[in-house]
Amino acid sequence: MKRISRRDFARMGAAGIGTAALRSFAAEEMHMPEKPTGVPTMWIGAVTHDSGVLKAKLPPRAEARLLVAAHDAEPFIFTPEPLVEKSGTVRTFRLRGLAALTRYTCTLEVNGKPSSHPPASLRTFPTQGNATSFGFAFGSCARTGSEHPIFETIRKRDPAFFLHLGDLHYVNISRNEPHFFRAAWDTVLASTTQGALYRTVPLAYIWDDHDFGPNDSDARTPSRTAARHVYREYAPHYPLPAGDGDAAIYQAFSIGRARFILTDLRSERSAKSTRDGAAKTMLGAAQKEWFKRELAAAARSHAVVFWASSVPWIGAADHGDAWSGYADERREIAAFIAQNGIRNLVILCGDAHMLAADDGRNSDYTGVRGLRLPVLHGSPFDQGASLKGGPYSHGVHLPEPGEGCFGWVNVLDEGGGVRIEFTGCDEFGEVKVRMAFAV
Ligand SMILES: [Fe+2]
Repeated sequence: MKRISRRDFARMGAAGIGTAALRSFAAEEMHMPEKPTGVPTMWIGAVTHDSGVLKAKLPPRAEARLLVAAHDAEPFIFTPEPLVEKSGTVRTFRLRGLAALTRYTCTLEVNGKPSSHPPASLRTFPTQGNATSFGFAFGSCARTGSEHPIFETIRKRDPAFFLHLGDLHYVNISRNEPHFFRAAWDTVLASTTQGALYRTVPLAYIWDDHDFGPNDSDARTPSRTAARHVYREYAPHYPLPAGDGDAAIYQAFSIGRARFILTDLRSERSAKSTRDGAAKTMLGAAQKEWFKRELAAAARSHAVVFWASSVPWIGAADHGDAWSGYADERREIAAFIAQNGIRNLVILCGDAHMLAADDGRNSDYTGVRGLRLPVLHGSPFDQGASLKGGPYSHGVHLPEPGEGCFGWVNVLDEGGGVRIEFTGCDEFGEVKVRMAFAV
């Protein structure tokens, strides 16, 4: 008889909780539950060297102030922006004038009284352009409201930020109903392990199919407007070049000499059933123009550029949902990278429930050898295994039932070339896939 180890037991529990949460959420989508009330919840993101965005859930009409203090210094006091929605409960605090590389504690004051709920905290980034080493965590895909310990593992590692590449939940909303998206966010934020992570580590997040619409969703999903609207309400995001309202969510930010470009590969994409050709797109015309401009400029002005792609890049052309199903556009992007002499780009991918790494020997779609595009996969946080695309030069790890995975990247920058160290780990920190390279 196979002995059940502590690790297996923990994983069975994690899988059970995830499944139960998913089941209860499926029921909740039919009869929308009361939103959690009376519990101020905070989450942070869009951090730079001197600013950040803190979102807080508060009782309707509550008067609130946010006290932001470094060590024992006098706190900065911020008041929230006016509510976008009269009935809304998410307040946005824009923190400004902070010092670089400094840890701040953020305490709420509600209706004149200090809140007894746990404070949020954030550490600002190093100044843009300065050579600085840092580590960040990334990945995708967690069951709705997952309490998986993987989120605790990530938080304890104290990354500079947490990059979520989509499938924040699996509610698969196909109707244009903002309150479905709000309820999904509320369920995610109510998770103990995820809530603590988002309260203390800056979040950078783009969606994939299940948190934008139904499975394999694209620009035609009826939920598109609601998804875009609630993203702006709930996600602490960097400035959105597409603007406010019903528009795509692509964005970019810098930390030290690294640039991160986050694309929206769902809300502008054409149907996967479209015949491959110039009209078949994942990015849409406006985003593609922005992406190319951003890519070319970032590659010159930064030592390393990371492209956050919510779907896999590598794989033989097919009719699927990943880049392999949009092979003409993939070739166009690869050719642009090659023609512009971009040699410092790294692609981070989500969607596939696996850890994987490729050093660039399988990622060149220009037809002319010479492009070296490293590709990293750091998923799933809490989902069953799925193998997509490939091959991957440095291997693939598929999680066992209940096992959580994430990607960790060290950017080692002392002013010359930059060294990148990738490890794909489980919730115990055990390394399953690793790759290191210089750019
Ligand atoms: Fe997923």
